[in-house]
Amino acid sequence: MSSVPNHIVVVMDGNGRWAKQRGLSRNAGHKAGVEATRTLVENCVKNNIKALTIFAFSSENWQRPKNEVSLLMELFLFSLKREVSKLNKNKVQVRFIGEISAFPSKLQLEIEKAQNLTRDNSGLVLSIAVNYGGRWDIVEAVKKIAREIENGRLTSGEIDHQLMASKMCLSDLPAPDLFIRTSGEKRISNFLLWQIAYTECYFTDTLWPDFDEIEFNKALQEFASRDRRFGKTDDQLEENTQNV
Ligand code: IPE
Ligand code: IPE
Ligand code: MG
Repeated sequence: MSSVPNHIVVVMDGNGRWAKQRGLSRNAGHKAGVEATRTLVENCVKNNIKALTIFAFSSENWQRPKNEVSLLMELFLFSLKREVSKLNKNKVQVRFIGEISAFPSKLQLEIEKAQNLTRDNSGLVLSIAVNYGGRWDIVEAVKKIAREIENGRLTSGEIDHQLMASKMCLSDLPAPDLFIRTSGEKRISNFLLWQIAYTECYFTDTLWPDFDEIEFNKALQEFASRDRRFGKTDDQLEENTQNV
Protein backbone atom coordinates (compact mmCIF):
# COMPACT_ATOMS: atom_id res chain seq x y z
CA MET A 1 0.00 0.00 0.00
CA SER A 2 1.20 3.48 -0.77
CA SER A 3 2.48 5.56 2.11
CA VAL A 4 1.65 8.75 0.21
CA PRO A 5 -2.04 9.66 0.14
CA ASN A 6 -3.75 9.85 -3.26
CA HIS A 7 -6.52 12.08 -1.99
CA ILE A 8 -6.30 14.56 0.91
CA VAL A 9 -9.36 16.37 2.31
CA VAL A 10 -8.99 19.38 4.60
CA VAL A 11 -11.21 21.31 7.00
CA MET A 12 -9.35 24.61 7.05
CA ASP A 13 -10.36 25.91 10.47
CA GLY A 14 -9.11 28.58 12.87
CA ASN A 15 -8.88 31.79 10.81
CA GLY A 16 -10.99 33.72 13.33
CA ARG A 17 -8.96 32.61 16.36
CA TRP A 18 -5.69 33.31 14.54
CA ALA A 19 -6.85 36.89 13.93
CA LYS A 20 -8.17 37.34 17.47
CA GLN A 21 -4.81 36.30 18.94
CA ARG A 22 -3.25 39.16 16.98
CA GLY A 23 -5.94 41.77 17.69
CA LEU A 24 -6.95 41.69 14.01
CA SER A 25 -10.38 41.47 12.34
CA ARG A 26 -11.81 38.06 11.40
CA ASN A 27 -11.53 39.19 7.80
CA ALA A 28 -7.76 39.58 8.19
CA GLY A 29 -7.76 35.99 9.46
CA HIS A 30 -9.61 34.81 6.36
CA LYS A 31 -7.13 36.66 4.13
CA ALA A 32 -4.24 34.95 5.89
CA GLY A 33 -6.16 31.68 5.47
CA VAL A 34 -6.22 32.15 1.68
CA GLU A 35 -2.41 32.38 1.70
CA ALA A 36 -2.20 29.13 3.68
CA THR A 37 -4.54 27.52 1.13
CA ARG A 38 -2.28 28.62 -1.71
CA THR A 39 0.71 27.08 0.11
CA LEU A 40 -1.24 23.85 0.64
CA VAL A 41 -2.04 23.58 -3.08
CA GLU A 42 1.61 24.20 -3.96
CA ASN A 43 2.72 21.49 -1.51
CA CYS A 44 0.24 19.02 -2.98
CA VAL A 45 1.53 19.76 -6.50
CA LYS A 46 5.12 19.38 -5.28
CA ASN A 47 4.33 15.99 -3.68
CA ASN A 48 2.39 14.70 -6.72
CA ILE A 49 -0.82 14.28 -4.73
CA LYS A 50 -3.61 13.27 -7.14
CA ALA A 51 -6.55 14.99 -5.44
CA LEU A 52 -7.12 17.66 -2.80
CA THR A 53 -10.56 18.57 -1.51
CA ILE A 54 -10.88 21.63 0.73
CA PHE A 55 -13.78 22.91 2.83
CA ALA A 56 -14.07 26.63 2.11
CA PHE A 57 -17.67 27.38 3.17
CA SER A 58 -20.15 25.03 4.78
CA SER A 59 -23.92 25.06 4.31
CA GLU A 60 -24.05 26.11 7.99
CA ASN A 61 -21.67 29.06 7.53
CA TRP A 62 -24.57 31.19 6.18
CA GLN A 63 -25.54 31.57 9.83
CA ARG A 64 -22.52 33.79 10.48
CA PRO A 65 -22.95 37.59 10.73
CA LYS A 66 -24.02 39.06 7.38
CA ASN A 67 -20.91 41.19 6.98
CA GLU A 68 -18.60 38.19 7.52
CA VAL A 69 -20.53 36.18 4.91
CA SER A 70 -20.32 38.97 2.35
CA LEU A 71 -16.63 39.56 3.07
CA LEU A 72 -16.01 35.85 2.53
CA MET A 73 -17.84 36.01 -0.83
CA GLU A 74 -15.71 38.98 -1.90
CA LEU A 75 -12.57 37.16 -0.83
CA PHE A 76 -13.55 34.02 -2.80
CA LEU A 77 -14.19 36.11 -5.90
CA PHE A 78 -10.95 38.08 -5.55
CA SER A 79 -8.82 34.99 -4.80
CA LEU A 80 -10.31 32.94 -7.61
CA LYS A 81 -9.66 35.70 -10.16
CA ARG A 82 -6.12 36.20 -8.85
CA GLU A 83 -5.13 32.52 -8.64
CA VAL A 84 -6.80 30.82 -11.59
CA SER A 85 -4.18 31.43 -14.28
CA LYS A 86 -1.36 30.22 -12.00
CA LEU A 87 -3.38 27.14 -11.08
CA ASN A 88 -3.93 26.51 -14.77
CA LYS A 89 -0.20 26.88 -15.48
CA ASN A 90 0.49 24.29 -12.77
CA LYS A 91 -1.95 21.91 -14.53
CA VAL A 92 -4.37 21.99 -11.58
CA GLN A 93 -7.93 20.99 -12.45
CA VAL A 94 -10.25 23.20 -10.39
CA ARG A 95 -13.70 21.92 -9.46
CA PHE A 96 -16.38 23.11 -7.07
CA ILE A 97 -18.72 20.94 -5.04
CA GLY A 98 -21.81 22.20 -3.19
CA GLU A 99 -24.90 24.24 -4.01
CA ILE A 100 -23.29 26.91 -6.16
CA SER A 101 -26.67 28.35 -7.19
CA ALA A 102 -27.00 30.10 -3.80
CA PHE A 103 -23.99 32.32 -4.54
CA PRO A 104 -23.92 35.82 -6.08
CA SER A 105 -24.07 35.56 -9.90
CA LYS A 106 -20.64 37.22 -10.32
CA LEU A 107 -19.08 34.47 -8.23
CA GLN A 108 -21.00 31.74 -10.08
CA LEU A 109 -19.61 33.12 -13.33
CA GLU A 110 -15.99 33.02 -12.07
CA ILE A 111 -16.56 29.48 -10.78
CA GLU A 112 -17.79 28.40 -14.24
CA LYS A 113 -14.86 30.13 -15.92
CA ALA A 114 -12.29 28.49 -13.62
CA GLN A 115 -13.85 25.05 -14.13
CA ASN A 116 -13.99 25.44 -17.91
CA LEU A 117 -10.46 26.81 -18.21
CA THR A 118 -8.88 23.98 -16.18
CA ARG A 119 -11.21 21.11 -17.21
CA ASP A 120 -8.63 19.19 -19.27
CA ASN A 121 -5.68 19.67 -16.92
CA SER A 122 -3.85 16.50 -15.99
CA GLY A 123 -2.35 17.54 -12.64
CA LEU A 124 -3.81 17.88 -9.14
CA VAL A 125 -7.61 17.72 -8.99
CA LEU A 126 -8.54 20.52 -6.59
CA SER A 127 -12.15 20.33 -5.41
CA ILE A 128 -13.34 23.36 -3.47
CA ALA A 129 -16.36 22.69 -1.28
CA VAL A 130 -18.56 25.78 -1.06
CA ASN A 131 -22.06 25.80 0.40
CA TYR A 132 -21.38 22.11 0.82
CA GLY A 133 -22.78 19.80 3.49
CA GLY A 134 -22.21 16.07 3.79
CA ARG A 135 -25.88 15.50 4.60
CA TRP A 136 -26.91 17.53 1.55
CA ASP A 137 -24.62 15.36 -0.61
CA ILE A 138 -26.28 12.17 0.67
CA VAL A 139 -29.79 13.61 0.22
CA GLU A 140 -28.97 14.62 -3.38
CA ALA A 141 -27.76 11.08 -4.13
CA VAL A 142 -30.96 9.62 -2.69
CA LYS A 143 -33.05 12.01 -4.82
CA LYS A 144 -31.21 10.92 -7.99
CA ILE A 145 -31.83 7.26 -7.18
CA ALA A 146 -35.50 7.93 -6.34
CA ARG A 147 -35.98 9.64 -9.72
CA GLU A 148 -34.50 6.63 -11.52
CA ILE A 149 -36.89 4.35 -9.66
CA GLU A 150 -39.84 6.64 -10.54
CA ASN A 151 -38.78 6.46 -14.19
CA GLY A 152 -38.62 2.68 -14.06
CA ARG A 153 -34.90 2.60 -14.81
CA LEU A 154 -33.98 1.07 -11.46
CA THR A 155 -35.47 -1.19 -8.80
CA SER A 156 -34.94 -0.79 -5.05
CA GLY A 157 -33.13 -4.15 -4.96
CA GLU A 158 -30.39 -2.72 -7.15
CA ILE A 159 -29.43 -0.10 -4.56
CA ASP A 160 -26.08 -0.85 -2.94
CA HIS A 161 -23.20 1.21 -1.61
CA GLN A 162 -21.45 1.32 -4.98
CA LEU A 163 -24.56 2.80 -6.58
CA MET A 164 -24.92 5.36 -3.78
CA ALA A 165 -21.23 6.29 -4.09
CA SER A 166 -21.61 6.80 -7.85
CA LYS A 167 -24.29 9.46 -7.25
CA MET A 168 -22.26 11.50 -4.76
CA CYS A 169 -19.76 14.32 -5.10
CA LEU A 170 -16.16 13.20 -5.84
CA SER A 171 -17.43 9.86 -7.20
CA ASP A 172 -14.80 9.82 -9.96
CA LEU A 173 -11.88 10.31 -7.55
CA PRO A 174 -10.11 7.78 -5.34
CA ALA A 175 -11.67 7.66 -1.86
CA PRO A 176 -10.05 10.17 0.51
CA ASP A 177 -7.00 8.66 2.25
CA LEU A 178 -6.23 11.48 4.66
CA PHE A 179 -8.58 13.90 6.45
CA ILE A 180 -6.89 16.91 8.04
CA ARG A 181 -8.55 19.35 10.44
CA THR A 182 -6.70 22.27 11.95
CA SER A 183 -7.43 24.46 15.02
CA GLY A 184 -7.82 21.73 17.63
CA GLU A 185 -11.47 20.90 16.87
CA LYS A 186 -12.01 17.18 16.56
CA ARG A 187 -15.18 16.97 14.54
CA ILE A 188 -16.31 16.58 10.94
CA SER A 189 -18.72 19.58 10.92
CA ASN A 190 -20.83 18.09 8.12
CA PHE A 191 -17.94 17.87 5.62
CA LEU A 192 -17.68 14.67 3.56
CA LEU A 193 -19.62 12.07 5.55
CA TRP A 194 -20.12 9.18 3.15
CA GLN A 195 -16.73 9.51 1.48
CA ILE A 196 -14.58 9.35 4.64
CA ALA A 197 -15.77 5.93 5.85
CA TYR A 198 -12.19 4.56 5.87
CA THR A 199 -10.18 7.77 5.76
CA GLU A 200 -7.33 8.31 8.23
CA CYS A 201 -8.05 11.36 10.39
CA TYR A 202 -5.36 13.82 11.45
CA PHE A 203 -6.14 16.60 13.90
CA THR A 204 -3.72 19.38 14.76
CA ASP A 205 -3.96 22.37 17.11
CA THR A 206 -2.27 24.57 14.50
CA LEU A 207 -4.60 27.33 13.28
CA TRP A 208 -5.24 27.32 9.54
CA PRO A 209 -3.16 30.45 8.63
CA ASP A 210 -0.15 28.80 10.32
CA PHE A 211 -0.50 25.50 8.41
CA ASP A 212 2.73 25.67 6.39
CA GLU A 213 4.98 23.18 4.59
CA ILE A 214 6.38 21.85 7.89
CA GLU A 215 2.85 21.19 9.19
CA PHE A 216 1.87 19.56 5.89
CA ASN A 217 4.89 17.25 6.03
CA LYS A 218 4.01 16.31 9.63
CA ALA A 219 0.56 15.21 8.45
CA LEU A 220 2.10 13.16 5.61
CA GLN A 221 4.54 11.53 8.04
CA GLU A 222 1.76 10.64 10.46
CA PHE A 223 -0.25 9.16 7.55
CA ALA A 224 2.73 7.05 6.45
CA SER A 225 2.96 5.55 9.95
CA ARG A 226 -0.68 4.41 10.09
CA ASP A 227 -1.81 0.80 9.55
CA ARG A 228 -4.93 0.71 7.39
CA ARG A 229 -6.81 -2.55 7.83
CA PHE A 230 -10.21 -1.89 6.21
CA GLY A 231 -11.79 -4.37 8.61
CA LYS A 232 -9.20 -7.10 8.10
CA THR A 233 -6.46 -8.47 10.37
CA ASP A 234 -2.76 -7.61 10.18
CA ASP A 235 -1.95 -11.17 9.03
CA GLN A 236 -4.45 -11.00 6.19
CA LEU A 237 -2.98 -7.71 4.98
CA GLU A 238 0.53 -9.14 4.94
CA GLU A 239 -0.62 -12.21 3.00
CA ASN A 240 -2.73 -10.48 0.43
CA THR A 241 -2.13 -6.75 0.12
CA GLN A 242 -3.46 -6.61 -3.43
CA ASN A 243 -6.99 -7.46 -2.25
CA VAL A 244 -7.21 -4.52 0.13
C1 IPE B 1 -12.46 28.67 8.97
O1 IPE B 1 -12.07 29.53 10.00
C2 IPE B 1 -12.92 29.44 7.74
C3 IPE B 1 -14.37 29.32 7.43
C4 IPE B 1 -15.24 28.62 8.09
C5 IPE B 1 -14.82 30.06 6.27
P1 IPE B 1 -13.12 30.06 11.06
O2 IPE B 1 -13.69 31.36 10.57
O3 IPE B 1 -14.13 29.04 11.38
O4 IPE B 1 -12.19 30.34 12.31
P2 IPE B 1 -12.55 30.13 13.85
O5 IPE B 1 -13.04 28.73 14.00
O6 IPE B 1 -13.60 31.15 14.17
O7 IPE B 1 -11.27 30.38 14.56
C1 IPE C 1 -16.02 24.05 9.22
O1 IPE C 1 -15.57 25.00 10.13
C2 IPE C 1 -16.28 24.69 7.89
C3 IPE C 1 -15.13 25.21 7.17
C4 IPE C 1 -13.87 25.13 7.53
C5 IPE C 1 -15.44 25.84 5.93
P1 IPE C 1 -16.56 25.71 11.15
O2 IPE C 1 -15.72 26.68 11.92
O3 IPE C 1 -17.73 26.29 10.45
O4 IPE C 1 -17.03 24.50 12.07
P2 IPE C 1 -17.66 24.46 13.53
O5 IPE C 1 -18.79 25.45 13.54
O6 IPE C 1 -16.58 24.87 14.49
O7 IPE C 1 -18.09 23.05 13.74
MG1 MG D 1 -14.20 27.57 12.79
